Amino acid sequence: MIMLIRGSKFIQILVFYLIGLHCMEMALTGVVPCMDSEQEALLKIKEGFKDVSEPFSSWTAEEDCCNWRGVGCDNTTGHVTMLDLHSRDPSSKLLGEVSPSLLDLPYLRSLNLSLNHFQQTLIPEFICSLKYIEHLNLSNANFRGTIPSSLGNLSHLKSLDLSGNGLFYLKAENLSWVYGLSSLEVLALGGVEISNAEDWLDAVNMLPSLVELRLIFCKLHKLPQNLHHVNFTSLKILDLSLNNFSSTIPDWLFDIGHSLVYLNLSRCQLYGVIPDAFGNLTSLISLDLSINYLEGPIPLTFGLFQEQVELNRSSSLRELYLSSNKLNGSFERSLAQFSQLVVLDVAMNGMEGNITESQLLKFSSLRVLDLSSNRFALNVSSSWIPPFQLENIGLRSCLLGPKFPLWLRSQKNFSTIDVSNAGIVDVVPDWFWNLSSRIMLMNLSFNELKGHVPDFSSQLQLSELDLTSNHFWSPLPRFSANSRVLFLARNSFYGHISHLCGIMSINNSLSYLDLSSNNLSGEIPDCWKYGHNIMALNLRSNSLSGHIPNSMGQLVRLKTLRLGNNSLSGEVPLSLKNCIDLTFLDLGKNRLWGNILAWIENLQNLKVLLLRFNLLSGNIPLQLCQLKYLKILDLSSNYLSGTIPPCNFLGMTSLEDTLSYISYPYMAYSDSVKLTFNSREFMNHGFPFFNVIDLSSNHLSGQIPNEFISLLGLQYLNLSGNHLVGPIPPNIGEMANLEALDLSRNSLSCTMPSSMTNMTFLEIFDVSFNHLSGEILQGGQFNTFDNLSYIGNPQLCGFPLSKICSSNESLGDPHCNTEEGDEEKQGIQKEEQHGFKIPSFYLSMGLGFIVGYCGFWGSLLLNKSWRYAYFRFLGNMNDKFYVMVAVGAAKLKRKFQHQQAPK
Ligand SMILES: *[C@@H]1O[C@H](CO)[C@@H](O)[C@H](O)[C@H]1NC(C)=O
Ligand SMILES: *[C@@H]1O[C@H](CO)[C@@H](O)[C@H](O)[C@H]1NC(C)=O
Ligand SMILES: *[C@@H]1O[C@H](CO)[C@@H](O)[C@H](O)[C@H]1NC(C)=O
Ligand SMILES: *[C@@H]1O[C@H](CO)[C@@H](O)[C@H](O)[C@H]1NC(C)=O
Ligand SMILES: *[C@@H]1O[C@H](CO)[C@@H](O)[C@H](O)[C@H]1NC(C)=O
Ligand SMILES: *[C@@H]1O[C@H](CO)[C@@H](O)[C@H](O)[C@H]1NC(C)=O
Ligand SMILES: *[C@@H]1O[C@H](CO)[C@@H](O)[C@H](O)[C@H]1NC(C)=O
Ligand SMILES: *[C@@H]1O[C@H](CO)[C@@H](O)[C@H](O)[C@H]1NC(C)=O
Repeated sequence: MIMLIRGSKFIQILVFYLIGLHCMEMALTGVVPCMDSEQEALLKIKEGFKDVSEPFSSWTAEEDCCNWRGVGCDNTTGHVTMLDLHSRDPSSKLLGEVSPSLLDLPYLRSLNLSLNHFQQTLIPEFICSLKYIEHLNLSNANFRGTIPSSLGNLSHLKSLDLSGNGLFYLKAENLSWVYGLSSLEVLALGGVEISNAEDWLDAVNMLPSLVELRLIFCKLHKLPQNLHHVNFTSLKILDLSLNNFSSTIPDWLFDIGHSLVYLNLSRCQLYGVIPDAFGNLTSLISLDLSINYLEGPIPLTFGLFQEQVELNRSSSLRELYLSSNKLNGSFERSLAQFSQLVVLDVAMNGMEGNITESQLLKFSSLRVLDLSSNRFALNVSSSWIPPFQLENIGLRSCLLGPKFPLWLRSQKNFSTIDVSNAGIVDVVPDWFWNLSSRIMLMNLSFNELKGHVPDFSSQLQLSELDLTSNHFWSPLPRFSANSRVLFLARNSFYGHISHLCGIMSINNSLSYLDLSSNNLSGEIPDCWKYGHNIMALNLRSNSLSGHIPNSMGQLVRLKTLRLGNNSLSGEVPLSLKNCIDLTFLDLGKNRLWGNILAWIENLQNLKVLLLRFNLLSGNIPLQLCQLKYLKILDLSSNYLSGTIPPCNFLGMTSLEDTLSYISYPYMAYSDSVKLTFNSREFMNHGFPFFNVIDLSSNHLSGQIPNEFISLLGLQYLNLSGNHLVGPIPPNIGEMANLEALDLSRNSLSCTMPSSMTNMTFLEIFDVSFNHLSGEILQGGQFNTFDNLSYIGNPQLCGFPLSKICSSNESLGDPHCNTEEGDEEKQGIQKEEQHGFKIPSFYLSMGLGFIVGYCGFWGSLLLNKSWRYAYFRFLGNMNDKFYVMVAVGAAKLKRKFQHQQAPK
């Protein structure tokens, strides 16, 4: 008993003691500890996740749950009010489900589950019962499905972030549910598909407290031009980028008035002019209208309210992004007003003018300057010291030369510099290479630069270097293993390339390497074991010798391999069959021997196969026919024998590239193919939309396979210089897209099939030195070919040969029995002779036949007239390539950091 009483007393004392402690704790800290029921709920929430060691390490029974990491309580009631379980780094993502025990935290005001992995589950409906919730962050958390509209019940909600849950994985039929969220200040739905929400602006206009609205990449297509009354006059941040509005800039924007600080309407397909009324957005700090179709000049009052001018106050604007539009005007008239800017990006517009020192005098805050690809010239003295320190220097295609711009010496902090195609004809001064220790991207291409090129191996940050097309004359420099892009083509780098192995360590980043058209010699080193990042490797047009190394088979992501025009010998290594992503394989103009190996069918993605001018022998393997994407097949000038396999290359059956193609992030790395025809050179810049079969100058025998006729997209067929016999297939005229046909120097017989007159695009035609007989076809394209196309066929007659057809000759060789001749056309020919003129297309060929293809220009290729029109742009070619480099590289990175655009 006593024991018991003493025991219970002890317990009483203990309880009092504990309560005392509790009170003391409260007294000392003023903090109420967490409720048992809520602690239990938290533990159940934790159980909803798999593998939870790290983020929950502080969630122990000894510790008050209000002190657990990510948990916050009200310090007077002890209720859990905040739960922040966002993952701090990708490796500690929580994987699992949201537990309904959340409802046992009834006083929760803030819930952050972002950057976790909820495995494509729906956003749980019960979240909509957390009636005191003010901040709900479910961004980047792999939710999927329709957003529960009862979220609209959460009338205390101040911020709602559902962005970044994959592109269009989350959907909302409309936005009418936001009507109820009268306290909402932040709404972010980036990547949520709300394409059906015609009412989105009306819904948003019901939110008078709205401060931040981000509807990036939501498939919105309607941007109303007017609103009766603009309710959201507190709006500070508006980001509607990456939607397809196809409209002009709406008027209601300017009614937001003085609150708007950040406005992003880039990539919205906006057209028209930039309204003067931007001057009314007097608090605007950052404006992004890039990548639209805006035209006209930049308004003079831009960012500068009339009152402010009077009060002599400067504009608030600090960041202006207007690149990739169609804006015009001069620097002086349009841009000099922006001297307060930190970021000025007007790249890729139609602006022009001489920029002088005095116009730049006030730009002392400038950190990012991109004037690329306009028609600007920088006219400054050699002693000019700019008022700014730039971090990004973008002066591509601005005229800076011919002298090397000495003012660059004052810039010590830049991480990117692009002075490509800037008319600089000079020696690069030694100080330039060491100017900035932060340099990440350097583009000096397409100038006429000379001088010493340093060792880059200590420039650990430098990941993208482009020195293409200059006059650098030195041994190949060394690079760091962090190099990702190395373009040094079209210079005079010489010597061995074995020190490339220095980059190829296990953790290297190398993805694009172009050393083509230099004077490099020696063997290709056998050190590609860690080349798993390499997508394009171009060593063509050097003096490399030896074998193709075996380890090239380890380049498993390789899409382009160009080793052509070297002195490589030996057989093509078997290991190359592992490079199954290859789309472009150029081994032409070497001394490779052996067979065309049957494993070529492993390379199922090949679009271009260039093996011409080698010592290859044996048959053309039937397996080649399996390459269903093939667009260019050039096996010419080898020792191939046997018959031509009856291939029906799927990729050549139509002109259009309906099959998926690759768009390289770096179009400067353009793949080009040169084709020779009648000693004229064709160039195909970019990717193969030029369907080609060239098997000329081999020892092929047999007949022309009828299967070729089904290659209706074929534009160029060269079978000349073989031992082919038999007739030209009678239905060859079905190949209506054929532009060049060379069957010369074979033993083909019989008459020319009359269906050929249907080949209306035929520009180049040669059947000389065969055994053809009968009458030469007349009419259409056939009036444009001269006698060189037909000579060496003693039995051919008619214009343009001098041999007149007698009546039995016009019937052709009696053994052939292909079809009847058509004498009736004979009379017309003499008249049409005078109409003969060289098509303009021909003339351009002299300049190099260039078919443009780059992701953006895909459409060009589908349409013949467009493609020809494209020749006019030849002059701007370099510029166009760099358009894409700029879009691909630093700029987007910079922007997306800002916007957190969903991937
Ligand atoms: C309790 O919280 C309020 C607001 O969160 C804070 O101002 C106050 O200082 C806190 N009291 C104590 C004792 O921590
Ligand atoms: C978690 O969400 C809250 C509310 O949305 C937000 O204030 C906080 O910044 C978020 N934390 C992180 C790291 O994003
Ligand atoms: C939500 O969380 C993400 C990632 O932690 C953060 O970047 C974002 O700012 C948060 N959203 C809000 C509205 O606080
Ligand atoms: C929440 O919304 C749903 C559907 O929108 C509605 O049926 C329900 O009554 C609402 N609940 C509360 C508590 O308002
Ligand atoms: C503006 O917001 C208020 C409060 O949400 C609403 O009553 C009113 O209808 C809104 N006005 C318009 C034009 O949408
Ligand atoms: C811009 O402000 C000017 C001067 O206050 C005013 O006359 C004009 O109507 C405003 N424009 C718009 C579109 O609000
Ligand atoms: C730019 O300056 C050059 C010479 O400095 C001059 O020849 C040219 O006419 C000027 N162009 C314009 C548009 O002012
Ligand atoms: C030329 O093409 C037309 C239409 O495709 C066809 O009807 C005609 O038979 C063809 N002519 C020859 C000679 O094949």
